[in-house]
Amino acid sequence: MESVGIDAIEIRPGKLRLDLAETFAPALDEAPEKYTEGLGLYASSFPDIHEDIVTMGANAAHRLMERKDLEPADIGRIDVATESAFDNSKPVSTYVAGCLEQVFAGDFHHANKGERKFACISGTQSLDDAYNWIKAGRSRGRAALVIATDTALYARGDAGEATQGAGAVAMLIDEEPAVVEMSQAQGYGSADETDFLKPNQQFPSVDGKRSVQVYLARMREALEDYEGVAGDTHPDDFRYIPFHTPFPGMVRKAALLGYRHVARGTDVEDGLAARIGRQPRRDDFDDEAAYEGAVREHMDALSGTDEYRDWFGRTIEPTLDVARHVGNWYTGSVHIARASALRRAREEGFDAAGERLLVGSYGSGAQAEIHAETVQEGWNEEIEALNLGDQLAARYDMSFAEYEQVHDAHNHAVETEIEGFTEPDGEFVFDGRGPMDERTYRFV
Ligand code: HMG
Repeated sequence: MESVGIDAIEIRPGKLRLDLAETFAPALDEAPEKYTEGLGLYASSFPDIHEDIVTMGANAAHRLMERKDLEPADIGRIDVATESAFDNSKPVSTYVAGCLEQVFAGDFHHANKGERKFACISGTQSLDDAYNWIKAGRSRGRAALVIATDTALYARGDAGEATQGAGAVAMLIDEEPAVVEMSQAQGYGSADETDFLKPNQQFPSVDGKRSVQVYLARMREALEDYEGVAGDTHPDDFRYIPFHTPFPGMVRKAALLGYRHVARGTDVEDGLAARIGRQPRRDDFDDEAAYEGAVREHMDALSGTDEYRDWFGRTIEPTLDVARHVGNWYTGSVHIARASALRRAREEGFDAAGERLLVGSYGSGAQAEIHAETVQEGWNEEIEALNLGDQLAARYDMSFAEYEQVHDAHNHAVETEIEGFTEPDGEFVFDGRGPMDERTYRFV
């Protein structure tokens, strides 16, 4: 078998937009710079009244299948990764398949369907499942459809409200993929944590500041584990490094730690030594506090160097272009970061074929995973086919009062009767509830 990876991508943002600097910050009496500079966010995307995780996922998958000229018989499995599911038994993938069967001839009766849960990392875990299924020789030449879809809402007044978002990423996993080949090598950092969880409740219980530390700790473990399999890494090994992006400020912290780690013991550290000294080594300090103080000082100096700034601008910044305008999509977030980097490559006329990516996924609870990907020859055509820019530009801009109504409309505990803000056209919509209290959908 030649290679396995992502053959096609489609992205479907929620059709509403909340401007964080202009609309949200003033309503909360906060400085807009907390959003634009601190968190690194300009706007969030939200689902309109007729949208939910099923419609966003099915609409992304529909466009992907049409564009790739696929029929249901070409798909051997449909896995949905989500942490916004509304049913503890019937998986979201069955609803998505039901939607797609309304518009395609044939059915998915011989496709394996499931739902993956591990906070935000389950999107990447679903890619893994698809990869393993194909590598095991069980796919019968069919491709896997992986859909990461979430409505990432926090309770009103929670600090996380600043980082909300909603949307779906559909990915086709296949042999000899057009976009990226996935590496066999991967590393994990996983521990029983309570940084963010939803114990049978819609909105998360979050220990926000701690979640940032847990993200960094697990990501570091995963990188060390990855290096244990793939060998030591160097800052120049990877053209782009897409991270799980709950907000770009989180990635800014992870990137600096990551750079320090991969630069250690390399020509990069040698080159910086005359200006900022070598990296502090634990063995050179008598106590932990002195060591940590020296590390903090070194990191401050490192973040100001031209070497680090150039590397960040080249390797990390392009992965954040989309997240800055849509917020956190949980399971889809790292997959937006990858697409964002490839969109930038295309905009800059850079030929990314053959370049390597290091992909850092994270899910609270908590687990990080790191693997590498190699960009394939067909990447440019696939990225050109994305209509993400048009979808983002067409979003309806909500006032703060409208945002409050929309949050209520998606809150399972609140009964509301509000009209949608956009007119559905050529898409699946949420239509109400059936006799078993199932959610129903139709194509309009
Ligand atoms: P907060 O208290 O609202 O914000 O919480 P803050 O006061 O910490 O400010 C945020 C940043 O803005 C800070 O930057 C401030 O300094 C800066 P930092 O110091 O950290 O670099 N700032 C300003 N900058 C310029 N001008 C100003 C200004 N004011 C402040 N005027 C927090 C932030 C992230 C905790 C909150 O948004 C939260 O709880 N978010 C939800 C949890 C989260 O996203 N955690 C991330 C890691 S866990 C994860 O990624 C998993 C997740 O996706 C879930 C899953 O896996 O399913 C969340």
